Amino acid sequence: MQKLLIKGKKELIGKISISGSKNATLPILAASILANRVKIKNIPLVKDIFTMVELLNFIGLKTKLIKKKNIIEIFNSEKNINTLAPYKLVKTMRAGVLVLGSLLTKYKKAKVSLPGGCAIGTRPVDLHLYALKKLGAKIKIKNGYIIAEAENGLKGAKIRFPSISVGATENALIAAFKAKGLTILKNCAIEPEIKDLISFLKKLGANIILKGRTITIKESKIKSSKIIHEIIFDRIELGTYMIAGALLAKKKLLIDKIQPKIIKSEIDILKKIGIKILIKKNSVIIIKRKKLKKINIITKPYPGFPTDLQAQLMVLLTQADGVSKIKENIFENRFMHVPELKRMGANIEIINKTAIIRGPTKLNGAEVMATDLRASVSLVLAGLIAENRTLINRIYHLDRGYEFLEKKLKNCQAEITRV
Ligand code: UD1
Repeated sequence: MQKLLIKGKKELIGKISISGSKNATLPILAASILANRVKIKNIPLVKDIFTMVELLNFIGLKTKLIKKKNIIEIFNSEKNINTLAPYKLVKTMRAGVLVLGSLLTKYKKAKVSLPGGCAIGTRPVDLHLYALKKLGAKIKIKNGYIIAEAENGLKGAKIRFPSISVGATENALIAAFKAKGLTILKNCAIEPEIKDLISFLKKLGANIILKGRTITIKESKIKSSKIIHEIIFDRIELGTYMIAGALLAKKKLLIDKIQPKIIKSEIDILKKIGIKILIKKNSVIIIKRKKLKKINIITKPYPGFPTDLQAQLMVLLTQADGVSKIKENIFENRFMHVPELKRMGANIEIINKTAIIRGPTKLNGAEVMATDLRASVSLVLAGLIAENRTLINRIYHLDRGYEFLEKKLKNCQAEITRV
């Protein structure tokens, strides 16, 4: 099994270009089932994307991945379509459940494996099913599968999500494309990745209006012409490297291929902690400061602070003066990096949903275990600032979501190798 070996305390200097967003690409790939022909640019070459492509192939679409250009072309010849998403593909990548909306609206039926729990919590799909039922789908659960049908097609409805879910908003949004009449979704997630999905669906012919947390969708015809779409940048990857720069870029770290206004709240938080950030049109420059200030953060749906950056921020706060607190409000079990960080010398205590971080503390290299995607990258950050060597096990989690991680960091003088 592959591991990452990091020799810590190397200054980061240079430039990192941010890849396309994994979390925007996944729903857009799922929505591609609706189209005849699409070309998607700026897709990140990471494991979750390969799994979604495998799922599209299984369903019967033809895909052509041009890795050198980060482009995928997808064709739907409408021949031999299989409205099934099998367990073996959905169990490793929960976003597989997003094909439910596309299959139901286009083919009026779908059988999709229940994704099951994962390391960060139980992660049910009740909100996805709640919305699809409101749109008229008949749904039963049998042998671990969601079996959904809408014999006469889906019907527009007014749906208020009882709580905010990114995936449920995406599934409902895609399903509503061809639902008869008008659909109004309330209390929606409004992450930039959802806005990217809306922009893709509009190119495909959808009539969608987003206002606040309300999305209105009018029944539309799917365009038969070829659709070309470019995925937005990965704001979580950007946040991760901004934190890396805040920890180690004594001179400067330039991060480009981004739109800074999309991550305004994260930039404001890093500035409050004391990081120097120069904002340009499509890039930011990060400069480490000697003294970092404590802060209290609560993870929230966008535009709040993202749960996907919680673990990385925690590593930064081990270097801040005083007592910082992070309350994890989205997932119930997302502090699995904490025992590993403690083994490296961090002073962190967990009380209920809150991590209390006392800093600054020196971290020491150790052999540690990655548990999920973002926890893994927090261990990489910890390894980069630790004395001596850090060896990270189970790095397949990292490969699910970070494109060219070692290469990008090595280009900025980090000592990191896969062993
Ligand atoms: C997406 C992101 C993930 C991110 C998360 C929150 C993708 C592929 N993944 O995941 O990286 O951490 O948003 O920003 O885009 N919930 C229910 N019932 C449901 C659905 C969700 O109770 O049917 C709960 C979840 O358990 C969680 C909360 O709602 O506690 C938010 O989850 P959700 O926004 O749905 O996350 P995902 O779409 O799975």
